[in-house]
Amino acid sequence: MPVGSILILPGDGIGPEVMAEVRRIIDWFADKRDLKFDVSEDLVGGAAYDVHGAPLADETMARAQAVDAVLLGAVGGPQYDDLDFSVKPERGLLRLRKEMDLFANLRPAQCFDALADFSSLKPEVIAGLDIMIVRELTSGIYFGEPRGIFEEDGQRVGINTQRYTEAEIARVARSAFELARKRSGKVCSMEKANVMESGILWRAVVSEVHEKEYPDVELSHMYADAGGMQLVRWPKQFDVIVTDNLFGDLLSDVAAMLTGSLGMLPSASLGAPMENGRPKALYEPVHGSAPDIAGQGKANPIACILSFAMALRYSFDLGAEADRLETAVETVLADGVRTPDLLNEEGKTPASTAEMGDAILAALDASL
Ligand code: IPM
Ligand code: MG
Repeated sequence: MPVGSILILPGDGIGPEVMAEVRRIIDWFADKRDLKFDVSEDLVGGAAYDVHGAPLADETMARAQAVDAVLLGAVGGPQYDDLDFSVKPERGLLRLRKEMDLFANLRPAQCFDALADFSSLKPEVIAGLDIMIVRELTSGIYFGEPRGIFEEDGQRVGINTQRYTEAEIARVARSAFELARKRSGKVCSMEKANVMESGILWRAVVSEVHEKEYPDVELSHMYADAGGMQLVRWPKQFDVIVTDNLFGDLLSDVAAMLTGSLGMLPSASLGAPMENGRPKALYEPVHGSAPDIAGQGKANPIACILSFAMALRYSFDLGAEADRLETAVETVLADGVRTPDLLNEEGKTPASTAEMGDAILAALDASL
Protein backbone atom coordinates (compact mmCIF):
# COMPACT_ATOMS: atom_id res chain seq x y z
CA MET A 1 0.00 0.00 0.00
CA PRO A 2 1.44 3.38 -0.94
CA VAL A 3 1.69 5.91 1.89
CA GLY A 4 -0.35 8.35 -0.17
CA SER A 5 -0.59 10.15 -3.46
CA ILE A 6 1.46 13.10 -4.67
CA LEU A 7 0.93 15.23 -7.77
CA ILE A 8 4.12 16.95 -8.91
CA LEU A 9 3.74 20.20 -10.86
CA PRO A 10 7.29 21.37 -11.70
CA GLY A 11 6.10 24.46 -13.59
CA ASP A 12 8.49 26.97 -15.14
CA GLY A 13 12.03 28.33 -14.90
CA ILE A 14 14.05 26.54 -12.24
CA GLY A 15 10.93 24.59 -11.15
CA PRO A 16 11.77 21.43 -13.14
CA GLU A 17 15.43 21.42 -11.98
CA VAL A 18 14.69 21.72 -8.30
CA MET A 19 11.83 19.25 -8.57
CA ALA A 20 14.15 16.68 -10.18
CA GLU A 21 16.11 16.66 -6.91
CA VAL A 22 12.89 16.22 -4.91
CA ARG A 23 12.05 13.19 -7.06
CA ARG A 24 15.39 11.64 -6.11
CA ILE A 25 14.57 12.23 -2.44
CA ILE A 26 11.13 10.66 -2.90
CA ASP A 27 12.82 7.64 -4.52
CA TRP A 28 15.24 7.44 -1.60
CA PHE A 29 12.35 7.20 0.89
CA ALA A 30 10.81 4.42 -1.24
CA ASP A 31 14.08 2.45 -1.48
CA LYS A 32 15.54 3.00 1.95
CA ARG A 33 12.56 3.62 4.23
CA ASP A 34 9.94 1.55 2.41
CA LEU A 35 7.75 4.64 2.16
CA LYS A 36 6.30 4.44 -1.32
CA PHE A 37 4.25 7.27 -2.71
CA ASP A 38 1.96 7.11 -5.68
CA VAL A 39 3.56 9.92 -7.71
CA SER A 40 2.18 11.53 -10.86
CA GLU A 41 3.25 14.63 -12.74
CA ASP A 42 1.48 17.34 -14.73
CA LEU A 43 1.86 20.89 -16.06
CA VAL A 44 1.22 24.26 -14.48
CA GLY A 45 1.99 27.88 -15.35
CA GLY A 46 3.64 28.82 -18.62
CA ALA A 47 4.44 25.17 -19.29
CA ALA A 48 0.71 24.41 -19.18
CA TYR A 49 -0.11 27.49 -21.26
CA ASP A 50 2.28 26.34 -23.99
CA VAL A 51 0.40 23.04 -24.31
CA HIS A 52 -3.19 23.86 -23.35
CA GLY A 53 -3.49 27.62 -23.83
CA ALA A 54 -4.31 27.92 -20.12
CA PRO A 55 -2.01 27.98 -17.08
CA LEU A 56 -3.87 25.09 -15.47
CA ALA A 57 -5.95 22.56 -17.42
CA ASP A 58 -9.25 21.42 -15.91
CA GLU A 59 -7.96 17.81 -15.83
CA THR A 60 -4.94 18.96 -13.82
CA MET A 61 -7.20 20.85 -11.41
CA ALA A 62 -9.25 17.68 -10.93
CA ARG A 63 -6.12 15.60 -10.30
CA ALA A 64 -4.93 18.14 -7.73
CA GLN A 65 -8.23 17.85 -5.90
CA ALA A 66 -7.92 14.06 -5.77
CA VAL A 67 -4.40 13.62 -4.35
CA ASP A 68 -3.13 13.83 -0.77
CA ALA A 69 -0.52 16.45 -1.60
CA VAL A 70 0.48 18.65 -4.52
CA LEU A 71 4.16 19.62 -4.86
CA LEU A 72 4.68 22.69 -7.00
CA GLY A 73 7.97 24.08 -8.33
CA ALA A 74 7.50 27.64 -9.57
CA VAL A 75 5.53 29.51 -12.22
CA GLY A 76 6.24 32.44 -14.51
CA GLY A 77 8.80 33.78 -16.93
CA PRO A 78 9.48 36.82 -19.11
CA GLN A 79 8.16 35.09 -22.24
CA TYR A 80 4.70 35.15 -20.64
CA ASP A 81 4.76 38.80 -19.55
CA ASP A 82 2.60 40.02 -22.40
CA LEU A 83 -0.08 37.36 -22.08
CA ASP A 84 -3.58 38.39 -21.17
CA PHE A 85 -3.96 38.63 -17.39
CA SER A 86 -6.45 35.74 -17.31
CA VAL A 87 -3.93 33.23 -18.71
CA LYS A 88 -0.76 34.43 -17.01
CA PRO A 89 1.23 31.60 -15.34
CA GLU A 90 0.45 32.98 -11.86
CA ARG A 91 -3.27 32.47 -12.49
CA GLY A 92 -2.64 28.71 -12.51
CA LEU A 93 -1.22 28.83 -9.01
CA LEU A 94 -3.96 31.16 -7.78
CA ARG A 95 -6.61 28.83 -9.20
CA LEU A 96 -5.11 25.87 -7.34
CA ARG A 97 -5.05 27.82 -4.06
CA LYS A 98 -8.61 29.10 -4.50
CA GLU A 99 -10.34 25.94 -5.75
CA MET A 100 -8.59 23.70 -3.24
CA ASP A 101 -9.51 26.33 -0.62
CA LEU A 102 -5.97 26.35 0.81
CA PHE A 103 -6.61 29.14 3.26
CA ALA A 104 -3.63 28.71 5.60
CA ASN A 105 -0.21 29.32 4.09
CA LEU A 106 2.60 28.33 6.43
CA ARG A 107 5.90 30.05 5.68
CA PRO A 108 8.66 29.23 8.13
CA ALA A 109 11.70 31.48 8.22
CA GLN A 110 14.43 29.56 9.89
CA CYS A 111 18.06 30.49 10.08
CA PHE A 112 20.48 27.61 9.67
CA ASP A 113 23.50 28.04 11.95
CA ALA A 114 25.88 27.44 9.07
CA LEU A 115 24.39 30.41 7.23
CA ALA A 116 24.20 32.92 10.09
CA ASP A 117 26.98 34.97 8.47
CA PHE A 118 25.19 35.06 5.20
CA SER A 119 22.26 37.26 6.17
CA SER A 120 22.50 40.97 5.50
CA LEU A 121 21.72 41.44 9.21
CA LYS A 122 24.20 40.95 12.04
CA PRO A 123 24.62 37.29 13.03
CA GLU A 124 23.40 37.91 16.59
CA VAL A 125 20.14 39.31 15.22
CA ILE A 126 19.32 36.19 13.26
CA ALA A 127 21.23 33.28 14.88
CA GLY A 128 18.71 30.67 15.98
CA LEU A 129 15.83 32.50 14.30
CA ASP A 130 12.78 30.29 13.81
CA ILE A 131 9.52 32.04 13.00
CA MET A 132 6.39 30.91 11.23
CA ILE A 133 4.29 33.25 9.14
CA VAL A 134 0.72 32.10 8.64
CA ARG A 135 -0.62 33.94 5.62
CA GLU A 136 -4.31 33.89 4.69
CA LEU A 137 -4.24 32.63 1.12
CA THR A 138 -7.67 32.44 -0.49
CA SER A 139 -9.28 35.79 0.12
CA GLY A 140 -8.50 39.46 0.70
CA ILE A 141 -7.41 41.79 -2.05
CA TYR A 142 -6.12 38.96 -4.23
CA PHE A 143 -9.67 37.76 -4.87
CA GLY A 144 -12.10 40.49 -3.71
CA GLU A 145 -14.73 41.91 -6.08
CA PRO A 146 -15.13 44.36 -7.70
CA ARG A 147 -11.81 44.22 -9.47
CA GLY A 148 -10.64 45.33 -12.87
CA ILE A 149 -9.60 48.31 -14.93
CA PHE A 150 -12.61 50.51 -15.73
CA GLU A 151 -13.33 53.76 -17.59
CA GLU A 152 -14.52 56.56 -15.38
CA ASP A 153 -14.90 60.20 -16.44
CA GLY A 154 -12.71 59.67 -19.46
CA GLN A 155 -9.82 57.97 -17.67
CA ARG A 156 -8.94 54.45 -16.58
CA VAL A 157 -9.34 53.40 -12.96
CA GLY A 158 -7.73 50.26 -11.53
CA ILE A 159 -9.73 48.61 -8.75
CA ASN A 160 -9.05 45.79 -6.31
CA THR A 161 -11.07 45.09 -3.21
CA GLN A 162 -9.91 43.98 0.20
CA ARG A 163 -12.71 41.83 1.59
CA TYR A 164 -12.72 39.45 4.53
CA THR A 165 -15.59 37.62 6.20
CA GLU A 166 -15.47 36.75 9.88
CA ALA A 167 -15.35 33.06 9.03
CA GLU A 168 -12.32 33.55 6.78
CA ILE A 169 -10.46 35.41 9.50
CA ALA A 170 -11.47 32.98 12.24
CA ARG A 171 -10.29 29.85 10.43
CA VAL A 172 -6.82 31.17 9.63
CA ALA A 173 -6.54 32.52 13.19
CA ARG A 174 -7.28 28.99 14.47
CA SER A 175 -4.52 27.57 12.27
CA ALA A 176 -2.08 30.08 13.79
CA PHE A 177 -3.16 29.38 17.38
CA GLU A 178 -2.93 25.61 16.83
CA LEU A 179 0.60 25.98 15.50
CA ALA A 180 1.57 28.27 18.36
CA ARG A 181 0.49 25.62 20.86
CA LYS A 182 3.05 23.26 19.32
CA ARG A 183 5.72 25.96 19.32
CA SER A 184 6.40 28.72 21.86
CA GLY A 185 2.76 29.60 22.45
CA LYS A 186 2.93 33.12 21.01
CA VAL A 187 0.99 34.69 18.13
CA CYS A 188 1.34 38.20 16.72
CA SER A 189 -1.47 39.27 14.40
CA MET A 190 -0.71 41.96 11.81
CA GLU A 191 -3.12 44.24 9.91
CA LYS A 192 -3.67 47.94 9.45
CA ALA A 193 -6.61 48.57 11.75
CA ASN A 194 -5.53 52.22 11.82
CA VAL A 195 -6.59 52.77 8.21
CA MET A 196 -8.65 49.79 7.03
CA GLU A 197 -12.05 48.56 8.17
CA SER A 198 -11.05 45.05 7.12
CA GLY A 199 -8.16 45.49 9.54
CA ILE A 200 -10.50 46.50 12.37
CA LEU A 201 -12.58 43.38 11.75
CA TRP A 202 -9.43 41.25 11.47
CA ARG A 203 -8.20 42.41 14.86
CA ALA A 204 -11.61 41.94 16.49
CA VAL A 205 -12.17 38.42 15.15
CA VAL A 206 -8.64 37.24 15.99
CA SER A 207 -9.16 38.56 19.53
CA GLU A 208 -12.56 36.83 19.86
CA VAL A 209 -11.22 33.47 18.69
CA HIS A 210 -8.32 33.90 21.07
CA GLU A 211 -10.48 34.72 24.07
CA LYS A 212 -13.02 31.93 23.48
CA GLU A 213 -10.82 29.10 22.23
CA TYR A 214 -7.14 29.78 22.86
CA PRO A 215 -6.75 31.83 26.06
CA ASP A 216 -3.58 29.82 26.85
CA VAL A 217 -1.78 31.31 23.82
CA GLU A 218 -0.17 34.75 24.15
CA LEU A 219 -1.64 37.10 21.54
CA SER A 220 -0.32 40.49 20.46
CA HIS A 221 -1.32 42.81 17.60
CA MET A 222 0.84 45.00 15.41
CA TYR A 223 0.25 47.25 12.42
CA ALA A 224 1.69 45.47 9.42
CA ASP A 225 4.07 48.30 8.49
CA ALA A 226 5.51 48.34 12.01
CA GLY A 227 5.63 44.55 11.79
CA GLY A 228 7.86 44.80 8.72
CA MET A 229 10.13 47.16 10.58
CA GLN A 230 10.27 44.95 13.68
CA LEU A 231 11.03 41.90 11.53
CA VAL A 232 14.20 43.60 10.37
CA ARG A 233 15.04 45.23 13.71
CA TRP A 234 14.67 42.25 16.07
CA PRO A 235 12.99 39.27 14.41
CA LYS A 236 13.48 36.93 17.38
CA GLN A 237 10.66 38.71 19.25
CA PHE A 238 8.24 36.77 17.00
CA ASP A 239 7.17 33.15 16.90
CA VAL A 240 3.94 32.74 14.91
CA ILE A 241 2.75 35.73 12.85
CA VAL A 242 -0.75 35.62 11.37
CA THR A 243 -1.72 38.07 8.66
CA ASP A 244 -3.80 38.58 5.53
CA ASN A 245 -3.03 37.60 1.97
CA LEU A 246 -1.25 40.74 0.73
CA PHE A 247 0.57 41.67 3.94
CA GLY A 248 1.56 38.02 4.23
CA ASP A 249 3.00 38.08 0.73
CA LEU A 250 5.20 41.06 1.60
CA LEU A 251 6.12 40.11 5.15
CA SER A 252 7.04 36.56 4.18
CA ASP A 253 9.49 37.83 1.59
CA VAL A 254 11.04 40.10 4.22
CA ALA A 255 11.21 37.26 6.73
CA ALA A 256 12.66 34.95 4.11
CA MET A 257 15.51 37.28 3.28
CA LEU A 258 16.46 37.53 6.97
CA THR A 259 17.72 34.00 6.64
CA GLY A 260 20.07 34.90 3.82
CA SER A 261 18.53 33.32 0.78
CA LEU A 262 15.09 32.81 -0.67
CA GLY A 263 16.47 29.54 -1.99
CA MET A 264 16.14 27.96 1.45
CA LEU A 265 12.52 28.47 2.34
CA PRO A 266 9.64 26.04 1.95
CA SER A 267 5.92 26.58 2.38
CA ALA A 268 2.78 24.59 2.98
CA SER A 269 -0.69 25.71 1.97
CA LEU A 270 -3.33 23.82 3.87
CA GLY A 271 -7.11 23.61 3.63
CA ALA A 272 -9.83 21.70 5.41
CA PRO A 273 -9.47 17.97 6.14
CA MET A 274 -10.48 15.59 3.34
CA GLU A 275 -12.45 12.36 3.87
CA ASN A 276 -9.26 10.48 4.80
CA GLY A 277 -8.54 13.05 7.51
CA ARG A 278 -5.57 14.58 5.68
CA PRO A 279 -5.79 18.29 4.92
CA LYS A 280 -6.05 19.49 1.35
CA ALA A 281 -2.46 20.52 0.75
CA LEU A 282 -0.05 22.11 -1.66
CA TYR A 283 3.66 22.49 -0.93
CA GLU A 284 5.93 24.89 -2.77
CA PRO A 285 9.19 26.77 -2.31
CA VAL A 286 8.77 30.46 -1.48
CA HIS A 287 11.15 31.44 -4.29
CA GLY A 288 9.97 32.07 -7.81
CA SER A 289 10.93 30.64 -11.18
CA ALA A 290 14.23 32.62 -11.42
CA PRO A 291 14.30 32.64 -15.24
CA ASP A 292 17.73 34.32 -15.23
CA ILE A 293 19.40 31.17 -13.92
CA ALA A 294 17.00 28.52 -15.26
CA GLY A 295 18.47 25.49 -16.96
CA GLN A 296 22.03 26.16 -15.78
CA GLY A 297 22.21 23.91 -12.73
CA LYS A 298 22.63 26.95 -10.48
CA ALA A 299 19.36 26.77 -8.59
CA ASN A 300 19.27 25.81 -4.93
CA PRO A 301 16.94 22.81 -4.53
CA ILE A 302 16.75 23.11 -0.73
CA ALA A 303 13.51 25.15 -0.56
CA CYS A 304 11.75 22.59 -2.70
CA ILE A 305 13.26 19.66 -0.78
CA LEU A 306 12.22 21.23 2.53
CA SER A 307 8.73 21.70 1.07
CA PHE A 308 8.62 17.93 0.64
CA ALA A 309 9.72 17.63 4.28
CA MET A 310 6.70 19.76 5.21
CA ALA A 311 4.53 17.36 3.17
CA LEU A 312 5.93 14.43 5.16
CA ARG A 313 5.04 16.26 8.36
CA TYR A 314 1.68 17.84 7.60
CA SER A 315 0.10 15.50 5.02
CA PHE A 316 1.55 12.10 5.88
CA ASP A 317 2.08 12.41 9.61
CA LEU A 318 5.73 11.33 9.18
CA GLY A 319 7.29 13.89 11.50
CA ALA A 320 10.33 11.72 12.29
CA GLU A 321 11.10 11.30 8.57
CA ALA A 322 10.62 15.06 8.06
CA ASP A 323 13.14 15.61 10.88
CA ARG A 324 15.52 13.18 9.16
CA LEU A 325 15.34 15.14 5.91
CA GLU A 326 15.69 18.52 7.63
CA THR A 327 18.68 17.26 9.58
CA ALA A 328 20.27 16.00 6.36
CA VAL A 329 19.94 19.51 4.91
CA GLU A 330 21.48 21.02 8.05
CA THR A 331 24.38 18.56 7.88
CA VAL A 332 25.12 19.38 4.28
CA LEU A 333 25.11 23.12 5.03
CA ALA A 334 27.34 22.59 8.04
CA ASP A 335 29.72 20.66 5.75
CA GLY A 336 29.98 23.78 3.60
CA VAL A 337 28.14 22.61 0.50
CA ARG A 338 26.87 25.78 -1.18
CA THR A 339 24.86 26.54 -4.28
CA PRO A 340 25.73 29.95 -5.82
CA ASP A 341 22.97 31.79 -3.91
CA LEU A 342 24.73 30.79 -0.66
CA LEU A 343 28.17 32.01 -1.62
CA ASN A 344 29.39 35.55 -1.21
CA GLU A 345 33.11 35.02 -1.26
CA GLU A 346 35.03 34.91 -4.49
CA GLY A 347 37.08 31.88 -5.30
CA LYS A 348 34.91 29.14 -3.86
CA THR A 349 33.48 26.62 -6.27
CA PRO A 350 29.73 26.39 -5.93
CA ALA A 351 27.82 23.14 -5.95
CA SER A 352 25.37 22.60 -8.80
CA THR A 353 21.71 21.83 -8.21
CA ALA A 354 22.37 18.12 -8.69
CA GLU A 355 25.49 18.16 -6.48
CA MET A 356 23.44 19.69 -3.68
CA GLY A 357 20.96 16.84 -4.25
CA ASP A 358 23.82 14.29 -4.16
CA ALA A 359 25.08 15.72 -0.87
CA ILE A 360 21.63 15.58 0.76
CA LEU A 361 21.13 11.99 -0.43
CA ALA A 362 24.52 11.07 1.04
CA ALA A 363 23.55 12.67 4.35
CA LEU A 364 20.28 10.73 4.28
CA ASP A 365 22.23 7.50 3.71
CA ALA A 366 24.45 8.39 6.65
CA SER A 367 21.38 8.90 8.84
CA LEU A 368 20.38 5.21 8.59
C1 IPM B 1 3.95 34.03 -3.52
C2 IPM B 1 4.03 34.68 -4.88
C3 IPM B 1 2.64 34.65 -5.49
C4 IPM B 1 1.75 35.52 -4.64
C5 IPM B 1 2.56 35.02 -6.98
C6 IPM B 1 3.48 34.18 -7.82
C7 IPM B 1 1.14 34.92 -7.49
O1 IPM B 1 4.56 35.95 -4.78
O2 IPM B 1 3.54 32.86 -3.44
O3 IPM B 1 4.33 34.68 -2.54
O4 IPM B 1 1.72 36.75 -4.82
O5 IPM B 1 1.05 34.97 -3.79
MG1 MG C 1 5.28 36.43 -2.83
